[in-house]
Amino acid sequence: MREEGSDPQAVLEELARIIEKDVKRFTLRALGSMCSKPLPISKIAYLMAIESNLGDPGVWGGVARLEREVIEGLGTLLSNPRAVGAIVSGGTEANILALWAARNYTKKREVIVPASCHVSFYKAADLLGLKVVEAPLKRDYTIDVDFVRRNITKETAAVVGIAGTTALGAVDPIEELSELALEKGIYLHVDAAFGGMVLPFLKELGYKVPEFDFKLDGVCSITVDPHKMGLAPIPAGGILFRDDEFVRPIAFETPYLAGGGVRSFTITGTRPGGPIAAVWVLLRVLGRRGYREAVRECMRLTEMLVRGVEGEELELLMRPVMNVVGVRAKRLSVREFSMRMKRLGWLLSEFPTHLRVVLMPHHTEELVKELLRDLKRAALRDHVELRATLKA
Ligand SMILES: Cc1ncc(COP(=O)(O)O)c(C=O)c1O
Repeated sequence: MREEGSDPQAVLEELARIIEKDVKRFTLRALGSMCSKPLPISKIAYLMAIESNLGDPGVWGGVARLEREVIEGLGTLLSNPRAVGAIVSGGTEANILALWAARNYTKKREVIVPASCHVSFYKAADLLGLKVVEAPLKRDYTIDVDFVRRNITKETAAVVGIAGTTALGAVDPIEELSELALEKGIYLHVDAAFGGMVLPFLKELGYKVPEFDFKLDGVCSITVDPHKMGLAPIPAGGILFRDDEFVRPIAFETPYLAGGGVRSFTITGTRPGGPIAAVWVLLRVLGRRGYREAVRECMRLTEMLVRGVEGEELELLMRPVMNVVGVRAKRLSVREFSMRMKRLGWLLSEFPTHLRVVLMPHHTEELVKELLRDLKRAALRDHVELRATLKA
């Protein structure tokens, strides 16, 4: 920090120059991110509530009301309008909260997760002192439920199912996990951080979609992130619990607050109200139809990509269930394929078995065409072939 302040206009211009490049990169060639480009109206809402603190809802009662309405909206989408929950910093915090609730509710210390689960579950287990049992995946990249059944012990607190895996958008058989959880008396958490705002709309569009939400009696909590497919600005993760009985074991009173004592069950104390205002506005402005149309368009682009990934050079890991596509080059290592795509200017996510492309609402048909052209170029066996096509 300098001794004297600088000219505000000059500082803002410098800031704009620094940020502009990131925004361009994200909007144009970053097809590896699961985050939304926020709708402009959500940014206005965010700014309107930027001073608010959800950690002190007695003072910020208006925004607290918005949060209740957002949770009711997301709960309704996921078949439980009476769900109890919060808008938190992201899917990571939501998953930590779920395992925290599961541990305290059951007073047990083991969790079974699919090998496809997000790293946040390992963070949660480390923080909470839980032993992780990793269930292998079947050939369709979903959890092996027989393994889960065989590995439930008297110490098992919870099992986790994913509705929209990070790597491939695969959906675990949540219905089977729900039956198992009910039979064995264990907690079932569903991580629908990405899929929670895709699957209900896919269903409305006529796709065959497996049940994954509170309609299934064994589901105790769900992560659903508006900052992923909800078109909301970061940070807007979401955690929903079926019932208050799961929240009580992680709820703390903060009696000293200016607005009066409150019960809090999030990790953070002070919480921004801006993202909540943003999500509230989006749910109202878009409605189910708006989200459905966004998902329809993402799936149209997904189908375009899928149709294009055919032939000699490229292959899909699996037929996508949602707008997440795993692709690899038949004759190259993933590392080499990824490096080449980077050199061609693309920012895709690299997994051990494939590159991930996420088709988000702000992506365009033009972009998918360019991507396909470059995927095919990059997948050519050797540099000589690649250089020849780049010169062409
Ligand atoms: C399925 C899933 N769960 C949780 C997360 C973590 O979300 P966040 O990065 O918002 O903490 C991700 C991130 O991509 C995810 O794909």
